[in-house]
Amino acid sequence: MEDRKANIIAISLVSIITISIIIARIVLKLSKTFFLICGADIAAILAVFAIVFIRRRFNNRRKLLETQLVSEGRELRIEYSFLRKVAGVPTKFRYKELEDATDGFRSLLGRGASASVFKGILNDGTPVAVKRIVGDERGEKEFRSEVAAIASVQHVNLVRLLGYCSVPTGPRFLVYEFVHNGSLHNWIFPRKQSQLERGRIRGGCLSWDHRCRVALHVAKALAYLHHDCRSCVLHMDLKPENILLDERYNAVVSDFGLSKLMGKEESRIVTTIRGTRGYLAPEWILENGVSEKCDVYSFGMILLEIIGGRRNICVTNEDGNDNKTKKKFECFAKIVIEKLKEGKIMEIVDRRLAQAGGVDETMVRRLVCVALWCIQDKPKIRPSMAVVVEMFEGRVPVDEPPDSQMLMVDLLSIDDDGDSTTPPDRLRPRLAEIMRNQMMDDAIIPSTAGYSFSISVLSGR
Ligand SMILES: Nc1ncnc2c1ncn2[C@@H]1O[C@H](COP(=O)(O)OP(=O)(O)OP(=O)(O)O)[C@@H](O)[C@H]1O
Ligand SMILES: [Mg+2]
Repeated sequence: MEDRKANIIAISLVSIITISIIIARIVLKLSKTFFLICGADIAAILAVFAIVFIRRRFNNRRKLLETQLVSEGRELRIEYSFLRKVAGVPTKFRYKELEDATDGFRSLLGRGASASVFKGILNDGTPVAVKRIVGDERGEKEFRSEVAAIASVQHVNLVRLLGYCSVPTGPRFLVYEFVHNGSLHNWIFPRKQSQLERGRIRGGCLSWDHRCRVALHVAKALAYLHHDCRSCVLHMDLKPENILLDERYNAVVSDFGLSKLMGKEESRIVTTIRGTRGYLAPEWILENGVSEKCDVYSFGMILLEIIGGRRNICVTNEDGNDNKTKKKFECFAKIVIEKLKEGKIMEIVDRRLAQAGGVDETMVRRLVCVALWCIQDKPKIRPSMAVVVEMFEGRVPVDEPPDSQMLMVDLLSIDDDGDSTTPPDRLRPRLAEIMRNQMMDDAIIPSTAGYSFSISVLSGR
């Protein structure tokens, strides 16, 4: 625009000067004064041309420099974003970027307790899963430092957190790498054909070999979180929905929604969190403290589900004497214990796998024993995840596990609301009594007052 203005001024000036020469020629004829005016005008015209020429050159050079700087800046940005990716530093996304990446949050992958997950593709072509969290009321700084802590934990069997976004007074977002084959529950539990056909959800019947590999991957991821990170990280929401499968059916553990970095010396902490029923260790249901052994318990439950291809807790409604329907909990682990005792362990294997053949009984026995060790009521008896990995790999012998009371089933039955994992206050003394009677004394942890700290909840539960 400025260039156009300058050109117009220059042309106008040259025109005025030329006209003044013509007028001077008519009025003054070929007098001495005319030649003086003519000389001055020609000098002025030359000056205008010189200024226009110099200005143009100057502008061209400036534009060249600007384009050079822009392209260098872009290169730097690309290099910086590559380094961020390699180093695992989470990127702060703008809301608009996520809106564009997910095409206006159109493609829903699934919905959890207080979050929805959408598929998206970033500008650089990276496929992502964007988790939209509602109801997380923590401060921005706290949210960011937790995101950074989570992203710094890296392992091949843990899903990568690529970035985050937080909208003032609006929802928060976590951006994860997209894991192609979705969650494990769609691959181990039989699903209605209509469910698979209806949606974009991927699923099927995972082969026995893949199931063994998935279990090992999850065990390795947990062993890393518990023992090989600078700070011990508890997962606290382990379930098949939070185990994802990549293109080659390798397992990646997702959702550190309830996890919290925990100093190594703090082996037991008291908490008020809620997890997912059916996977919670008894000491956790009792709100008597959690440790990495709670994750071990959940892992044992998942391992049984992987072998059996069924949920570990089935709830059925039964008519009671007082005409009220009562919830009855059928516990798969109890069936497994019975079958192991009877020497009929192959009967608990997922029927679809048993029919297909190729399931090795020795391996089934070993995995079942590992699982039963993991779900012992007493946390101290449960092996660490590092030992579980060694058991899987055959470096540590797996003895027959001791009998377990399966306290968790009693606790679920006591919880008369049926859908709450936090026991009502009036039942707490009763539960504490059960705990005292059935578990080792040292499993009871000092009252909440001394140790209490709330596990921070990224997923806003
Ligand atoms: N990184 C990912 N790649 C692909 N699919 C994903 C990814 N993360 C989540 N999903 C899908 O989105 C679904 C919903 O996830 P979300 O974590 O919100 O709920 P959930 O796991 O069922 O329950 P919870 O809230 O207790 O974790 C998952 O079941 C999974 O199928
Ligand atoms: Mg999840």
